[in-house]
Amino acid sequence: MLTPYKHEPFTDFSIESNRKRLESELEKIERKLGGTYDLLIDGEKVLTEEKITSINPGKKEEIIGYVAKANQEHAEKAVQAANQAFQTWRYTNAIDRANILIRTAAIIRRRKSEFTALLIKEAGKPWNEADADIAEGIDFMEYYARQMIELDKGKEINSRPGEYNRYLYTPSGVAVTIPPWNFAFAIMVGTTVAPLVTGNTVILKPASATPVIAAEFVDVLLEAGIPDGVINFLPGSGSEVGDYLVDHPKTALITFTGSREVGTRLYERAAAVNENQFHLKRTIVEMGGKDTVVVDNEADIDIAVDAIVTSAFGFSGQKCSAGSRAVVHEDVYDEVLERVVKRTKELTVGETTTPDVNMGPVIDQAAFNKIMNYIEIGKAEGKLMTGGEGDDSKGYFIQPTIFANLDVEARIMQEEIFGPVVAFAKAKDFDHALEIANNSEYGLTGAVITNNREKINKASREFHVGNLYFNRNCTGAIVGYHPFGGFKMSGTDSKAGGPDYLALHMLAKTISESY
Ligand code: NAD
Ligand code: ALA
Repeated sequence: MLTPYKHEPFTDFSIESNRKRLESELEKIERKLGGTYDLLIDGEKVLTEEKITSINPGKKEEIIGYVAKANQEHAEKAVQAANQAFQTWRYTNAIDRANILIRTAAIIRRRKSEFTALLIKEAGKPWNEADADIAEGIDFMEYYARQMIELDKGKEINSRPGEYNRYLYTPSGVAVTIPPWNFAFAIMVGTTVAPLVTGNTVILKPASATPVIAAEFVDVLLEAGIPDGVINFLPGSGSEVGDYLVDHPKTALITFTGSREVGTRLYERAAAVNENQFHLKRTIVEMGGKDTVVVDNEADIDIAVDAIVTSAFGFSGQKCSAGSRAVVHEDVYDEVLERVVKRTKELTVGETTTPDVNMGPVIDQAAFNKIMNYIEIGKAEGKLMTGGEGDDSKGYFIQPTIFANLDVEARIMQEEIFGPVVAFAKAKDFDHALEIANNSEYGLTGAVITNNREKINKASREFHVGNLYFNRNCTGAIVGYHPFGGFKMSGTDSKAGGPDYLALHMLAKTISESY
């Protein structure tokens, strides 16, 4: 029997031995940089002429690796291989599938510092964020392994005299996994192993900014014993390979996490029934956010300041859960704003080579340009309180930026910026604050800072977001503790890391036997 699930502890880098271990891995990684990574189709490594070049966003000239780039011919081979492998994988024992996840988690846990170092380099994450990202990936494997063993028993339904009824879950088919780069390990792992453990075969198309860590993960799955064709690794262009896989008549399940723009397009495409397709596709589509920290006048201001700074600037605001809006009761607005500005000015920005760097780079030139453009928009819409500057000479660095006195309809109050920018708006009272917070096409996360029980109850009912937190920040959901997914245009609310997630990857089957 497996031990009960408990989330992976975070590493304390103030302890010298932990710090030294990661420093040593960062040095070792330097010697591995610039390697070549292959596609994986039907258990065979495939090298291609064309490559995706992965770089360190905090040090542009540093190449993390060259990753083979698939075309549609590779995609077709991968679908055929995954479809073939599905014919046997679907009938494997759930415990055997779960064991592969447990073994993979054990290997990653042993190599945790190495994976953390790679993530620091490839995604530019600060040490604590990289450590948490690897921990979350381990959590997904441990949690889903246990969930699968339970789900395999089916659910209880009624039987009648002379009739024995069962309600069981059966796999869907070939799954296409399309993760984002911002949780380059955790979300990539979670959205790969959930379809695998539920008996589907997978084609993983990693994000083009972070394909090396995905390639390393796939190697660990192989080491843990995943059979040929069950996992296929297919980095490539979204529009060429991504569309081909989503449209293919033999793919059954599309699990996507990323932007609203790509997600909605993919959702529509997956709804089409193409020639020789004999099923409707399942889609799990998790998209962006415009998340709010609400501060009431009956609140602990220390908690409020901490919640706003952590939510806005953790991983440079590049989280779907980032608190990019602070809506503050007018009684405490000036005090909260002043203290958040003061704290923000103390944040350090730079290449994440040591644990004391608070904010690393943004992911690439396109992100840098987009965020700097929003900063210009912000200057016209509100009052710049701090930050507003960027430097892309060595890496893609942007200072943490605060705008005050925003109108609720301002673009920087409504559009996902996905960078270190937070907009402050003043609310007349608590109801008004909730109204502003709900005024968004997104509905992913939110936080409310208040000591008033009635207001907590009211926000619990009326704040329309998938993940609502009280008296803390609105980022950092933990697998098995804070199942994650959003309402409205934030997605299909699949609740990754929650008790209902795996069933979304399967077909429920009723079996009724008369005797
Ligand atoms: P993105 O939409 O640009 O890319 C996501 C993935 O889709 C990548 O792997 C990309 O290669 C792929 N892709 C692009 N075009 C495609 C196509 N035509 N067909 C198939 N695949 C295609 O998003 P991103 O920049 O990687 O990630 C940032 C976004 O992700 C933000 O909007 C963020 O809020 C969101 N996000 C959401 C969650 C969540 O759980 N809701 C979690 C993390 C990130
Ligand atoms: N699960 C991630 C968070 O909660 C996105 O921040």
